[in-house]
Amino acid sequence: MIKFTLQGIMDLGFDKTQVYTTLELRMKCGVGKCGRCNVGAKYVCKDGPVFRCDELDELPSEY
Ligand code: FES
Repeated sequence: MIKFTLQGIMDLGFDKTQVYTTLELRMKCGVGKCGRCNVGAKYVCKDGPVFRCDELDELPSEY
């Protein structure tokens, strides 16, 4: 859902550095212990949960 929404925002002419989103639904423990929230090398609970759209491009597409 996030991917489709972001694409719609890009289609409206926004730059990727202007758009932020959150991946907090992936989180479980919230303190970096359970490993449930990792996307590539990033832990959503520790490195986010809010990411800029251009930062999401650097992550694997599993979010
Ligand atoms: S929520 Fe458990 S490690 Fe991030």
